[in-house]
Order: sequence, then C-alpha cells, then structure tokens
Amino acid sequence: MKTIKYSKITPESVYKNRRSFLKRLGFGASTLAFSSIPLINNGFAKDRNELTSYKDITTYNNYYEFGTSKGDPYKNSQTFKTTPWEISIEGEIDKPIKLSMEEISETFLSEERIYRLRCVEGWSMVIPWLGFSLSDLLSKVKPTSKAKFVEFESVYDPEQMKGQKYPVLNWPYKEGLRIDEAMHPLTTVVTGLYGKKLPNQNGAPLRIFIPWKYGFKSAKAIVKIKFVEKMPMSSWMWASPREYGFYSNVNPNVNHPRWSQATERIIGEGIWAPRVKTLMFNGYGEEVANLYTGMDLKKNF
Ligand code: MTE
Repeated sequence: MKTIKYSKITPESVYKNRRSFLKRLGFGASTLAFSSIPLINNGFAKDRNELTSYKDITTYNNYYEFGTSKGDPYKNSQTFKTTPWEISIEGEIDKPIKLSMEEISETFLSEERIYRLRCVEGWSMVIPWLGFSLSDLLSKVKPTSKAKFVEFESVYDPEQMKGQKYPVLNWPYKEGLRIDEAMHPLTTVVTGLYGKKLPNQNGAPLRIFIPWKYGFKSAKAIVKIKFVEKMPMSSWMWASPREYGFYSNVNPNVNHPRWSQATERIIGEGIWAPRVKTLMFNGYGEEVANLYTGMDLKKNF
C-alpha cells in the first residue's frame, strides 16, 4: 500500500519553517499556504490562511458516532478498527463495484490539498489534507440515465461506536451531493492530513471533503457511495430539516435559524480573538458558483 509520495508531503514543522522562509523572501501568507496546491483559490483575506495546528485538527472534532463533545472523538476513537475496509459503489450504475482500502491506495495518488473547513457552528480551520478528487474514483463506474445524485454512507458499528446506541442522528450517518457537485475536482476523497495517515477521529480510513460546504456535508469513515435518482435525505436533514438543507453551501447571507453565519471563529486563535467574515462558498466561489446559476440559494439552503 503506497500512494502517498512522502517527498511531496510537508510535515507541520517544515510548514512552519517554509512559512518564515517565504516571509523572509517577501511572500505573503497566502502565497505560502497554497504554494503547492494547484486546486486552491486565493480568495482568502491575508489573515485567514494560517494552517491550524495538528493538535487542534485532531482534538477538536465533530464525530457523533464517538460522542457529541468536541474532545470525545479523540478520546473514544483510538481503538476503532479500520482494517480491513471496503467501500462499495452501487445504485444506478451499470455494474456495482467493491474496492478495498489497499486497492484504493494503489490506484489513486493522494496529494496535499490545503482547504478551509467551515463548520455550520461558526468556526473554521485550515487543514493540509491528503487526498484525491472523488471524480477519479467515480469515473470507474458508469451511471445509468436515472442517476442524479450520490449518497454517502458512513460505517455502522454500534459495538465500536458507542454514539450509535443513541438516536441523536438516524444511523448510519448519511450525506449526499448532486452528481455535478460530486464530480467537481474540489470534492475530495481524504486519506490523510499533515502528511500522515488520517487519524480515526478525522474519519479514517477514508472520508469525503467538500471545501465550499459546511463541514457536516463531509462524511467520515465512508463504506458506501450510492448513485440515486432522488435527492437523498441526509442525517442532518432528518434530524432538523428547518436548520439543515440539502445544499448547505457556506453562505454568509443565509443565517442558521438560531445564529448568524456572517462570521466565523478561527480555531487556535482563542475565543477572544476577533471573528472573521465568512466568505460566500467558503471562498471557493470562483470555482463553484457556476454550479448554482439560476438557483435561489435562500430557498435551496
Ligand atoms: N461524519 C460522520 N460520520 N459523523 C459525524 O458526526 N460530523 C460532521 C463531519 N462528518 C460527522 C461527520 C461535522 S458536523 C463536521 S464539522 C466535520 O465532520 C468535522 O470534521 P473534522 O472533525 O475532521 O474537523
């Protein structure tokens, strides 16, 4: 199992050195955070680009299968078994397939992708993910003419995931995208972060990441991708349809019914640090706004 080119990957300490090195050369923070990533736009304001520390990324998590407090996933997921692991692609396609983690690692090359995660709760992190475009994986199958959406399903294993013994969500965790959203090159299959294997609390061995949508769209520990005709019902739509719509694009102009989405708190800066303005589509508008041309994004929230 070897897909990650370690020479290409930058550990946390090297990121920091490179940052001060580039600063000395007169490059701004934005040049540096995105220097190795062709897919990233440069829509962030200068003060928004600092990478979040490995510690914060791996100890401040949402993963309700392991508990509902931010520290629970780190505490409760360490012994979670991620081998063997298989992912099935099925539904409205010519021929369903199953791929083992080994096959995925051998077939798809993970690269470093630095994307901002904006949680619907009003905080954000900048994470150096490792991964590849979901479109690479999905192009291995042939959808039928009925296929309009894809549904992602996380693993169901209440023995290992004690949170699944409580009906906070309708387990297994489910999310969905329109096919064109799923095929967008920014939509990523994540296999690691900070040059390391993906930690259990961040969704090992494989999770989805959609940079322009609120974090909850990015399902962890997925075992199934299903092509479907009808818009899937995600776990959060099921839990509270008034608060969580299918699209869930980061949108500072559409408030959550219980709080504003205009600004965000940057994790790692401390709770007294000033909040920063949230950008439309989380700053990826140039790349993705055209997916929503003509749609009323207040109605389709
Ligand atoms: N996936 C599963 N299976 N279960 C979850 O509870 N939480 C979501 C998302 N994916 C969640 C999930 C939410 S609310 C967020 S903000 C992100 O994961 C958090 O990802 P991170 O912990 O890697 O930062």
